Amino acid sequence: MARVRSVYRCAECGHDHAKWAGRCEACGEWNTIAEEPLEVGRKDAKTAGRRGGAAAAPQALADVEQARLVRWTTGIPEFDFVMGGGIVPGSMALIGGEPGIGKSTLLLQTAARLRGAGRRVLYASGEESPEQIRLRADRLREDAGPVLVLGETRLETILEATRATGAELLVLDSIQTVYTDALESAPGSVGQVRECAAHLMRFAKESGTAVFVVGHVTKGGTIAGPKTLEHIVDTVLYFEGEGSLDYRLLRATKNRFGSVDELGVFSMTERGLAAVPNPSAVFLAARSEETSGSAVTALMEGTRPVLVEVQALAAPSGYGTPQRVATGIDPKRLAVLLAVLERRGGASFSQLDVFVQVTAGVRLREPGADLAVAAALLSSLHNIPTPADALYLGEIGLGGEVRPIGGLERRLAEASRLGFRRAFASPRQGAQVPGLRHVGISHVDQLAGSLAA
Ligand code: TYD
Ligand code: MG
Repeated sequence: MARVRSVYRCAECGHDHAKWAGRCEACGEWNTIAEEPLEVGRKDAKTAGRRGGAAAAPQALADVEQARLVRWTTGIPEFDFVMGGGIVPGSMALIGGEPGIGKSTLLLQTAARLRGAGRRVLYASGEESPEQIRLRADRLREDAGPVLVLGETRLETILEATRATGAELLVLDSIQTVYTDALESAPGSVGQVRECAAHLMRFAKESGTAVFVVGHVTKGGTIAGPKTLEHIVDTVLYFEGEGSLDYRLLRATKNRFGSVDELGVFSMTERGLAAVPNPSAVFLAARSEETSGSAVTALMEGTRPVLVEVQALAAPSGYGTPQRVATGIDPKRLAVLLAVLERRGGASFSQLDVFVQVTAGVRLREPGADLAVAAALLSSLHNIPTPADALYLGEIGLGGEVRPIGGLERRLAEASRLGFRRAFASPRQGAQVPGLRHVGISHVDQLAGSLAA
């Protein structure tokens, strides 16, 4: 008996509710619940796995043959690096990012590169027609001509075409536009996204095809659809960047075949995306050394140190509550640092609007950047530039003390390479880097003194 009931499902977390509600009781999000037909008769999906046949017998780990990980390199160094060395056959990756950031461009370039290396490649799009994809392809440095394209949104048709063409790489743009016959709900619904992703994952594993899927992001910046989507796939990449800037940052937040949080930097050019092999130099290129409110720090992005500039502006506020605007830094962290500078550093920001930003759309995700943020704030407050040849490295505690950070030597080596000669950091840690002097700074009350130095 084919009953089709419906269910009220949260688009954020996938939680099912018996009736509609304004707020999801599971994740607390508002206005995310939508009606979807409840699928019955999915028994086949459950039993389709291992049924009959030879059951897999348990074996000792030592007896398990060591898999040799094959990787296909694209020759786009930053892409291969973020992927952990290249694309693993039979794996599935999800790439998220805001519209217009360059997801389709990146994947078309990847497809063209792999095609150029002799792999069969299918680029299926429900977002754009083959004519539109051709227009993009004509702009690229890569020759995307031999890449097979398919304008299609039915998953079964796409997979048939993949099999029929023997494609080793399938690009699917995007997961929100495809649907499977197994469900009646609309493309983009939680059920469809989840089912299509699971189906694609099985297909990748069974056929050895590498699958790349584009995912749209929500206002909050996470990939739209059920959270389980990111759990299903092997690799999750985020492509981001400040709208007005040409830089694009690619980062893996999950990778079963490599380390996470490696950063790949690209620039969007007239002829597609170009890898930026020396991000630090590019990020600091626009720095004005005579201007107050700027401080440089070295972040560890994955295994690589990257130098960035922190900018701060403290200006008298017109009226009412002073504003705190943070770009690239957690507003709560900024609030903590301002409070510490007030109470422990003798600086007053209470009548001032405070703006802080990080160059090139990089986000400060580690407390090691605290000292640079504090230096930029004090530099703006006192209107004295930080020394042009100095960088700031350290976490700041609530007592105003400067704490040691990890990876100091590698960060300093990168700074030295770029011509920096002094590093302000906790005196409790030592680092010997040729050409660069480590200047101990143990408390924020010494920070203002470092400015004129
Ligand atoms: P696109 O890959 O379509 O973004 P997404 O798939 O993430 O929505 O990239 C769109 C932007 O990139 C668009 O604004 C045009 C620009 N672009 C270039 O500047 N140069 C190029 O060579 C290409 C192909 C696109
Ligand atoms: Mg696109």
